[in-house]
Amino acid sequence: MVANSKWFILIGITALQFTVSNSQENQDKSRKEKKTQSIRDLFNTTSCIPPPYRCPHPRMQFYLYTRITQEKGELINTLDNDSLTRSKFNPAHPTKVVVHGFGGGRNLSPSTDMRKAYFTRGNYNIIIVDYGTLVKEPCLGQIGWAPRFAGLCIAQLVEYLQYHPVKSIQPEEIHTIGYSVGAHILGLVANNLSSGKLGRITGLDPTIFFYMGNNRSRDLDHTDALFVDILHTGAGILGQWGPNGHADFYVNGGSSQPGCAHDTIFQTLSCDHTKVTPYFIESINSRTGFWAGPCPSLFSYLIGWCEPKDTDYVLMGEHVTPKARGVYYVTTNAKPPYARGFPGKVRRLRSISPYS
Ligand SMILES: *[C@@H]1O[C@H](CO)[C@@H](O)[C@H](O)[C@H]1NC(C)=O
Ligand SMILES: *[C@@H]1O[C@H](CO)[C@@H](O)[C@H](O)[C@H]1NC(C)=O
Ligand SMILES: *[C@@H]1O[C@H](CO)[C@@H](O)[C@H](O)[C@H]1NC(C)=O
Ligand SMILES: *[C@@H]1O[C@H](CO)[C@@H](O)[C@H](O)[C@H]1NC(C)=O
Repeated sequence: MVANSKWFILIGITALQFTVSNSQENQDKSRKEKKTQSIRDLFNTTSCIPPPYRCPHPRMQFYLYTRITQEKGELINTLDNDSLTRSKFNPAHPTKVVVHGFGGGRNLSPSTDMRKAYFTRGNYNIIIVDYGTLVKEPCLGQIGWAPRFAGLCIAQLVEYLQYHPVKSIQPEEIHTIGYSVGAHILGLVANNLSSGKLGRITGLDPTIFFYMGNNRSRDLDHTDALFVDILHTGAGILGQWGPNGHADFYVNGGSSQPGCAHDTIFQTLSCDHTKVTPYFIESINSRTGFWAGPCPSLFSYLIGWCEPKDTDYVLMGEHVTPKARGVYYVTTNAKPPYARGFPGKVRRLRSISPYS
């Protein structure tokens, strides 16, 4: 088992490194150099973040987007109640807190695409946790503690909203969405909330990074929010296998996505992993819907032996029912639109009500 997990860790590191470089459209040549560099850096625990390590940290920022401020986020200062008062934050609208993975940022996809999808739908307060400069490539050594630090700062944001004198909302009203390592960060927020619980955590393919050595205490799990739904697309390799949430969705079997066969195994793995965000984003406005059904095992799903009752199907993604429990499987198209709707015979599509 030990040898086995080492292999996974190594694959995980290399493929993550690839994902990071790929987002900046690197050439082949530098990729090889960076791969070796990143593995060395992983064991370099020298911090790249300038002290003091206090929240809020200048490298860990919260940007608020609303329908009327879509183009330009407002920086929220959690040490100043006036900051939220002055902003366009409206406590009557649903609030989403979005945490991207390593190498992401508020001006990069998927944060931008996700905001666009929500604002197409309606009014929301969308807070993007921007820590893009907190964990940059030469600082991969920080991955051990950076998520804990990020979790602490996000908990501070949640309490800032909770105790705000003018525009307060309760943690239970907040839907948080974390992609990749962002999903783990959200799992850590719960440890730092003094009262209340996050309403919902959606984990988009949580990485296997913190699943090293079979220690599950650092994983995102169902105790971290009132409802935890997890989408798995690169499960077992870059993504963690799970199940971990109240409801776990294995897309196309959970580990290999259509349209993701590439020249190298690393490209393929990172493609599987990154496919999760387009699926989730499509689910926000999809009329077809990603209908997912339970199945006793992955094997029976793969060989087509699952025939769930109509009433057992649930929507995956934004509009999942908080009553969903257990493991669900869903098949998608290889190209957008990915959603295939209700499987099987003639079924009436339930239209999506506002803010369901
Ligand atoms: C560790 O990281 C620091 C900060 O990036 C860097 O200055 C130092 O050279 C690195 N050490 C090694 C052994 O790579
Ligand atoms: C904001 O207002 C609340 C309620 O009055 C208070 O408890 C809190 O300390 C204030 N926060 C800041 C950062 O001033
Ligand atoms: C925050 O949570 C971490 C675990 O993720 C814990 O080690 C730390 O003591 C907590 N800090 C506070 C101030 O609650
Ligand atoms: C698992 O990790 C937690 C927190 O990092 C630690 O407190 C605990 O001792 C670890 N458990 C094992 C079995 O290593």
